[in-house]
Amino acid sequence: MKSGWLLTCFVLTTCSAFAAEEALKPRKPCTVQSPKHLDFDLSGLSVLPKTEGQKSTKGARNESWMAIGYDSGVNYTINICAPVIEDIKDVEGVDESKWQNISAFYTSESGKTFSLGMQHSEFVFRGRKLVLHYQDGSPCGGGNSASELADGDSKNTRRKSMMISFLCDQDSFESSKPNMALSFVGASPDFCHYGFEARTPLACGGSIAPTEQAVGPGSLFGIM
Ligand SMILES: *[C@@H]1O[C@H](CO)[C@@H](O)[C@H](O)[C@H]1NC(C)=O
Ligand SMILES: *[C@@H]1O[C@H](CO)[C@@H](O)[C@H](O)[C@H]1NC(C)=O
Ligand SMILES: *[C@@H]1O[C@H](CO)[C@@H](O)[C@H](O)[C@H]1NC(C)=O
Repeated sequence: MKSGWLLTCFVLTTCSAFAAEEALKPRKPCTVQSPKHLDFDLSGLSVLPKTEGQKSTKGARNESWMAIGYDSGVNYTINICAPVIEDIKDVEGVDESKWQNISAFYTSESGKTFSLGMQHSEFVFRGRKLVLHYQDGSPCGGGNSASELADGDSKNTRRKSMMISFLCDQDSFESSKPNMALSFVGASPDFCHYGFEARTPLACGGSIAPTEQAVGPGSLFGIM
């Protein structure tokens, strides 16, 4: 009798661990679970602005991440799951009310600022690839000058977008603080879509707290 209850309880607990998790714990922004139930938390890569009066944490980044553009002639400033912390203004074709929500931008040779997309913190898995998209950036596809990168004309409704593909890299980083090497992979010929690759230990996946979820009363009651 007693062992029967224990067995039921064990089965319930393990069976409900994944099913109940979604319902009981709303997923934290910038986290995702892989199709194989591995938990990924990339929120440590969000560079946050220093709040007024707060002492700066030692070693904390004071600028967003950067990707060198090489032949594209510009460098890209990008934050992960958060708006860039740089103060940007006069963003081409983007309403002023949205400047504070831009998560990636570059400045052209002539000093114009172009958005590559708005803040977004939901990842998707393409097979085993962990991907983050930003969209609704500056207008694109209206011109053909590489340096102005297709400043949109008024009739044009297409907008720049980008994606970052995250790769697990345990070996390239010595320090334990969240770290990432971001590189520019390329842009579409009309400069409407941009691709980046990020190498970081945070993309290796791990478990946020599976044991806690498995034995917590929440997961047991969750399916009862
Ligand atoms: C950012 O931090 C670096 C050192 O980590 C420092 O040299 C630099 O002056 C800082 N920049 C700003 C704008 O605070
Ligand atoms: C891009 O960044 C690299 C490395 O910091 C720098 O040498 C280069 O001058 C930058 N290019 C532009 C266009 O800002
Ligand atoms: C834009 O940023 C503001 C302030 O940070 C925030 O309150 C708002 O929710 C953001 N909007 C979107 C669409 O993310």
